[in-house]
Amino acid sequence: MMHNSPYPFASLTPIIKARIGFLVCSLIASMCAASVATAAQVDASPREHLSLDAGWKFHLGDDWPDALRLDKAGTSSGPAMETFGDETWRTVDLPHDWAIEAPFDQNADANHGYKAVGPGFEKTSIGWYRRTFTLPKGDEGKRIWVTFDGVFRDATVWVNGWLIRRHEGGYYPFREDITDIAKFDSKNTLAVRVDATKFEGWWYEGAGIYRHVWLDKTAPVAIAPEGIFVRSEFPNNLPEGNPDIKVDAQVLNSQAKAVDATVECEIFSPEGRSVAQFSVPHKVEGGETATVKLQSKIPSPILWSPESPKLYKLVTAVSVGDKIVDQQETAFGIRTVSFDPAKGFLLNGKLYRIYGVCNHQDHAGVGTAIPDALHAFRIERLKEFGCNAIRTSHNPPTPELLDACDRLGMLILDENRMLGGDSENLRKWGEMICRDRNHPSVFLWGIANEEGAVQSSVEAGRIAVTMENVLRRLDPTRLATYAAAEEDSFWGINGVIDVRGWNYHPFPCTDTYHAKHPDQPNIGTEQGSTVGDRGIYEESPERGLVAAYDHAPSQWVQDAETWWSWFADRPWLSGGFVWTGFDYRGEPTPYRWPDINSHFGILDMCGFPKDNFYYYKAWWTPDVVLHLLPHWNWAGKEGQEIRVDALSNCKAVELFLNGVSLGQKPMKQNSKLTWMVKYEPGTLSAKGFDASGKVIVETKVETTGEATQLRLTPDRTTINADGEDVSVFTVAALDAKGRVVPTAQAKIDFNLEGEGRIIGVGNGDPSCHEPDTFIASVPVRRVAVTEWRWKEMKIPSNRSPLPEYANDFDDSTWSALREDRDPRDQVIKTSDTTAVFRAHFTLTEEDVNGAGAQIQFPGCDDDGWYFVNGQFVGESHDAGAQPIFDIKKFLRAGDNVIAVGVNNSYGEGGLKPGVGVDIVGKPAPVQWSRSLFNGLAQVIVQSTRTVGKFKFTANAEGLEPATATVKTQQCAPRPSVP
Ligand code: GAL
Repeated sequence: MMHNSPYPFASLTPIIKARIGFLVCSLIASMCAASVATAAQVDASPREHLSLDAGWKFHLGDDWPDALRLDKAGTSSGPAMETFGDETWRTVDLPHDWAIEAPFDQNADANHGYKAVGPGFEKTSIGWYRRTFTLPKGDEGKRIWVTFDGVFRDATVWVNGWLIRRHEGGYYPFREDITDIAKFDSKNTLAVRVDATKFEGWWYEGAGIYRHVWLDKTAPVAIAPEGIFVRSEFPNNLPEGNPDIKVDAQVLNSQAKAVDATVECEIFSPEGRSVAQFSVPHKVEGGETATVKLQSKIPSPILWSPESPKLYKLVTAVSVGDKIVDQQETAFGIRTVSFDPAKGFLLNGKLYRIYGVCNHQDHAGVGTAIPDALHAFRIERLKEFGCNAIRTSHNPPTPELLDACDRLGMLILDENRMLGGDSENLRKWGEMICRDRNHPSVFLWGIANEEGAVQSSVEAGRIAVTMENVLRRLDPTRLATYAAAEEDSFWGINGVIDVRGWNYHPFPCTDTYHAKHPDQPNIGTEQGSTVGDRGIYEESPERGLVAAYDHAPSQWVQDAETWWSWFADRPWLSGGFVWTGFDYRGEPTPYRWPDINSHFGILDMCGFPKDNFYYYKAWWTPDVVLHLLPHWNWAGKEGQEIRVDALSNCKAVELFLNGVSLGQKPMKQNSKLTWMVKYEPGTLSAKGFDASGKVIVETKVETTGEATQLRLTPDRTTINADGEDVSVFTVAALDAKGRVVPTAQAKIDFNLEGEGRIIGVGNGDPSCHEPDTFIASVPVRRVAVTEWRWKEMKIPSNRSPLPEYANDFDDSTWSALREDRDPRDQVIKTSDTTAVFRAHFTLTEEDVNGAGAQIQFPGCDDDGWYFVNGQFVGESHDAGAQPIFDIKKFLRAGDNVIAVGVNNSYGEGGLKPGVGVDIVGKPAPVQWSRSLFNGLAQVIVQSTRTVGKFKFTANAEGLEPATATVKTQQCAPRPSVP
């Protein structure tokens, strides 16, 4: 979701406004006279931060194992090459997770959700992405950067055939300066090979470019990437008086000569008022990055908190002479965070209990490829039960999650993937801190989780100190914790970590530990791990379903009441993080296949509340809560006892069945109430009382009729027409009286008309093997080109035509060549020899009118000039290249001719066998569908870039269909690379 900036230029101060006026004029000038850009115009260009998400081509499979060549620069082959044709590849927009598209397979890894990707599934674990983009001539002289926010897993990246990066690991961003190899006023090609054959974690991790990709352009003197660090400092770390705002600005001078730069800062309050301006001049040597330190006071600060997430904005400008050469905006919040070992966590100087959840990055329908708007949707669902903090277990998050947490009000425990003191791990740890340290939502860093094999060792303790030292240098404002699944142990990491993290163990060991180490703060980094499924009240090992009565599946984990009661009574433990907020794919516990999901969530995969939602809402919010479970549709169980729980924060609750009281029970703090009730259909109801005995809330659960109709409810009825925003639909089956039928499981078909596209479906059923996403398969027909003839002759070393390349040339006297010849058996035996190769193939009208066509050559030793029906289609100059050309526009129904002029300059050579023409058909339409799980399903619909609306319809046999309309409104779309 793009949010229009609340800070129009009008609110800028005269200094910056005047300078912006200059910039705009220069920009317009440079656009008008793009081909004659002067150095002055380039210097004046502000930065551009452009999305590279749209319009990638994607191919699944390791079909070019030799693409990476390490012998010579700029000579990689296959899709890494600029000339490669990707006509038959699917078009995808990022973020993209291909694991979500894979089938479930019982032989696949249970912890990764039985998806046929990863170890044992090599064929579906390597994917290729390609995209082209054009840089205008006017960009010459700027620095050009490409940034990947996250790729699962190892990525090899080429630009214009040059290898630019080999990045290992699935959770950290990486960035390259591609200025030297960029082409201006011309097409550039980005190719990425993604290798997901190895896992990193023990949960569903997805596969592919699952976060955003960016293209940044800056002047040669500019703010360095992640080069702004802004923080507020109050005396004694208490939010009293006027804080110092400290800014460290890193200025990168990629020119050879030194420059006299000035860094200017202007701060805007949450209401958009300019509240401070300050600047510092600094000489930056050629080729160097200088850190410029600035400082100012802010009057009457407005504090940030989850309850009041007020954001300031810092505008940092760098000028050289009288020209601004770069300008960047940074959102930040003014707040203090600290830990008092005796009292617990303090936010803005006050005790603040962490009502947290751990989450993996995984949602129904889309897997790890979560659109920004869906991050916001998820945060809003968590806030509904009082959650105020997320632990990004067990890896750094995407930056857009942090943006949403800053904006919506949610604290973050930002967790590193793994413990390690090696340079690579420390580099990643440092880069994560620099990327995320401006976010007010981040209140604590996590160095690692449950490193059971080493955590108590001397070595692990030393590494923790090394990691803390990196943190002190890069972010002196926050502390570090480590998620330790240990009891009263002070060995290794626990003995040196700033804040002792408690994974589980809500037992007396916390008290003995605290007594022995009274100066060390504590926090519940991971608690709970109770299991339950939405709307399931009878255990079903065969179906892999777990009853929702807040059940701890093994001895080392605890139900909500056990852990929370313990922590609630001990404020010095600072509260804690439940494992987990949302269900996620993988880690099916306690059952395995057909179960493919975890059951730990307070919310299911879609974000629909399970019953535990109300336990936490009761004890984590000031709202009056009264919730009854189970549902009351138990036909066939008449007269049998059924367990009924009341989740409530009332002082007492009275239960009724069909109006008859079943007794009143007092509620213990942080607890719940249980009755055993003989089933009879009708109404189960309850009244909640306050301390004075007054009824303050009533609720009921009714036996419903059969489902008769469907209902569609979008979470938002107007979304941005930016091709990224989403509307999340709840699909429900209702009875004739309009009540959700809690047992309905009907299969629903979905259809969409207008400016939207369905991107994923889900239902929260942890054992559902229906597809999350429906991909239109693109039919590709391979036409083998088998009958070749060839002849040695002189040819031009360029694209000039020869009569021998034309269709009507008679080649019947030439030597015949068999396609099934041994590829090692070269045709041209002598060096410095040229020849022409010709072949015919036949196409139908339908082939010619299809979606596309390309020709694939296994190689040409050494140079080749390729012609189809007498027209030049491309050339190659590398025996290892396997050129592919888009030839749709050259084809005709009936007879077609391929002719290749070949130059063999060294040893033996010629055209290699295996030439094929791929005819790409039109994709078949797909029918999206999903079954309800206990009355509900979810559909995620994304906007297109066209303003208008879409109509979304749900149909199921025997049920009245439902329709909903969502508007797609004009917005400032995210600037992107065309
Ligand atoms: C924890 C671990 C989590 C998850 C959880 C399941 O020990 O940190 O990643 O595996 O157990 O109960």
